[in-house]
Amino acid sequence: MPDIEEVIRLHSPAKINLMLSVHGQREDGYHDLTSLMAGLDFGDELAVRLSDVDSLECTDPDLPTGPDNLVLQAAALFRRRAGLSSGFSFCLNKRIPVGAGLGGGSGNAATALLAMNRLSGDVLSMDELFDSAKELGSDCPFFIDGKPSLLRGRGEIVKSLPAEISKQLEGQRLLLFKPNFAVSTAWAYGHMRSLRSSDVYEPETVAASRLEGFFDGGALEDLLANNFERVVGLKFPAITLILEDLRRMGVPCLLSGSGSCCFALLDQSAASAEEIGACVRDAWGNAVFFIETSICGTKT
Ligand code: C5P
Repeated sequence: MPDIEEVIRLHSPAKINLMLSVHGQREDGYHDLTSLMAGLDFGDELAVRLSDVDSLECTDPDLPTGPDNLVLQAAALFRRRAGLSSGFSFCLNKRIPVGAGLGGGSGNAATALLAMNRLSGDVLSMDELFDSAKELGSDCPFFIDGKPSLLRGRGEIVKSLPAEISKQLEGQRLLLFKPNFAVSTAWAYGHMRSLRSSDVYEPETVAASRLEGFFDGGALEDLLANNFERVVGLKFPAITLILEDLRRMGVPCLLSGSGSCCFALLDQSAASAEEIGACVRDAWGNAVFFIETSICGTKT
């Protein structure tokens, strides 16, 4: 019988897409993609305990904590799948900005599944958790394991990277910087479609050969590509301008997911974190979200 006072606290990591290649829309409305995704040391913290009913508190007063929140959707789904009648009480220390392309909500939902399962005596297998995550959102399954992975399909087909590639990525230092506005993922995909131009998509073969180059020992900066960058940049040129400036300075950088957060690789950069920070603040103002973090290995 689980201890009802027991509280589980888990790191709920942010993610970046080191490569995101969108190939085109499918019949079900989703888009097929190939992506190399990595979890970060930076993230939220989720505390969970058993309770009579489901509830969610969040340190960010702007975040909706009603039934639409993916954490509470994860709780309802978990209870159904595990055949439980009890509820869960969640406390979310929110640090990951919303609408950033950092997978905050998806990561919270997957972390909630892991925590609820642990509190309930591991009633669901890892495969069942992974399957539940698929139902919650395209990016959610990645966070069940959280290791750097290759994603395909609509994002729900997750494959571990070869061990030596994972090892190479773990600990990679990077900067995250986000302008003072959010981008909705659904909007970004819709905007991509509305451009009605075949060159907004990238053929699978192009993504495959870029990945092959990296797996064969190519530089990480040559992997960085995201075809949301141009699409989102058409509406939000502030993103394009900063990324162009940084690239001129010799800084490998990219939009993460559908944005609006961007990242820069530190160890491969010709500029220091301070110089990059100065450039970002000069363009976007002093109140900008700007932090240093690293790619993490396994989920803790
Ligand atoms: O799967 P998820 O609910 O996180 O996706 C949010 C929205 O992003 C979807 O409703 C869909 O409009 C779009 N999407 C897509 N193709 C993907 C992933 C997401 O069109 N591969």
